[in-house]
Amino acid sequence: MKDDNRTAVLDAIMTRRSVRNYADRQIPDDVVNRIIRAGIQAPTALNLQPWAFVVVQDRAFLDQVSDYCVPIMLKGMEQSRGGISDEFRALLATEGYSIYYRAPTVIMVVGRTESRFREIDCSLCAENMMLAAHALGVGSCWIGSTEVAYDNSELMRGFGIPKGYSPVGTIAFGYPAEEPEPHERNEPLVTWVR
Ligand SMILES: Cc1cc2nc3c(=O)[nH]c(=O)nc-3n(C[C@H](O)[C@H](O)[C@H](O)COP(=O)(O)O)c2cc1C
Repeated sequence: MKDDNRTAVLDAIMTRRSVRNYADRQIPDDVVNRIIRAGIQAPTALNLQPWAFVVVQDRAFLDQVSDYCVPIMLKGMEQSRGGISDEFRALLATEGYSIYYRAPTVIMVVGRTESRFREIDCSLCAENMMLAAHALGVGSCWIGSTEVAYDNSELMRGFGIPKGYSPVGTIAFGYPAEEPEPHERNEPLVTWVR
């Protein structure tokens, strides 16, 4: 790898942040395709590449999924109080809140249901996609909240997941309308054996 590329890769890793505020401008198809191409460079167990991608650019459908998830999430949070839970509850309760932050493109990474390492393989793919997006000036945020809708067969049909595949992760993409502050990371617990 060339020195310039090495620096660029590390820079993308160190500066990527989850983006939750997007410009109202669609990502061109070729940029979406480049992000997916970067995703599929991820390593996979036995090189099975057990992934497929659902690119959703239908705002009305995403709002429908969000409107289904939000009240269920709020109900589920009734018990948890304090710190991050209070912050997240307030966010969820905000008028017009969308779990997808009105991102113009949402990509669901789905994995072959029968593939044993699909969650690991697809998550590695998803991280590649988020880093590639960042390198291309596109913000992203993994939206775990979509899981709330997994048991709603009508909404799942709306995602048009290919037969034999199940969702692993859903990621919002769009041009950033904010520059989130870097997050402090906890010191890693590292054990050396040598
Ligand atoms: C599995 C997973 C699920 C997540 N789900 C959500 C989500 O539903 N909504 C959201 O706003 N952020 C979600 N995030 C983003 C995290 O909150 C974010 O990555 C974390 O706070 C660290 O911030 P950073 O990505 O800016 O470094 C999720 C991240 C992961 C890995």
